[in-house]
Amino acid sequence: MADAATLARPGTATGTAPFFSCRDVHAYYGESYIVQGVSFEVMEGEVIALLGRNGAGKTSTLRTIARTDTPQMRSGEIWLGGTALHKTNAVGAAQAGLQLVPEDRRIIAGLTVEENLKLAQIAEPIGWPIEKVYERFPRLAERRRQEAVTMSGGEQQMLAVARALCRELKLLLLDEPYEGLAPVIVQEIERCVAEIKAAGITTIMVEQNAIAALHLADRAIIMDMGEIVYTGTAADVLADKALREEYLAV
Ligand SMILES: Nc1ncnc2c1ncn2[C@@H]1O[C@H](COP(=O)(O)OP(=O)(O)OP(=O)(O)O)[C@@H](O)[C@H]1O
Ligand SMILES: [Mg+2]
Repeated sequence: MADAATLARPGTATGTAPFFSCRDVHAYYGESYIVQGVSFEVMEGEVIALLGRNGAGKTSTLRTIARTDTPQMRSGEIWLGGTALHKTNAVGAAQAGLQLVPEDRRIIAGLTVEENLKLAQIAEPIGWPIEKVYERFPRLAERRRQEAVTMSGGEQQMLAVARALCRELKLLLLDEPYEGLAPVIVQEIERCVAEIKAAGITTIMVEQNAIAALHLADRAIIMDMGEIVYTGTAADVLADKALREEYLAV
């Protein structure tokens, strides 16, 4: 991994750079061209809803930003503050404060809720203290000694998000946090995301439940066939039925 000096962006002393930006990012699965020139910026504290139909490239875009090995990023730039994420890998991106909560949640079997949270803090205890997590998410406090994988889907989702909060966190990437959850549980996770927003954590949220995501988000980015086709305020997308029917089928 490159060291901090080679990752530093020249000329950021003026403080004019956006909090996060992607510039003309292209990524592939083998020869399959999936992320096709994605560019966008996120301001500090914003919640972005990244939307689009099945297969539009939303998960691939999150994975590219998180610098996972697949898809493979072949060109473009990704900046988080002054850090060039395109010059680092998934570990470097996480150390820089980019935390991806993937769709499958990756809760560790055989460990309790509290052990899952503690594990997130082993490298550097610089995120939220576990007591703060319990304050904000009392459901996890009640279940701290329970084996985490025996919890309900919604509770596991809450834990997956809480684990990201326990790490160095500058940009939170949520991939379909409401997936597979009953409506009443979705409301509970929505409250978690609202808490995160109130705490000022910059977030990009992918969600099939576009309406729910738009109610929480400040801005929306819509993807189709690996490209961004629309960027605007969440309120504008909620008001534009034709746009939603074309790209979101809602
Ligand atoms: N590991 C992979 N290898 C090859 N192709 C892949 C792989 N993962 C995804 N794809 C393809 O990349 C395209 C974009 O997939 P992606 O998962 O990013 O879409 P998505 O917008 O997240 O869709 P969904 O809403 O269904 O989750 C799809 O055509 C998909 O088949
Ligand atoms: Mg997806």
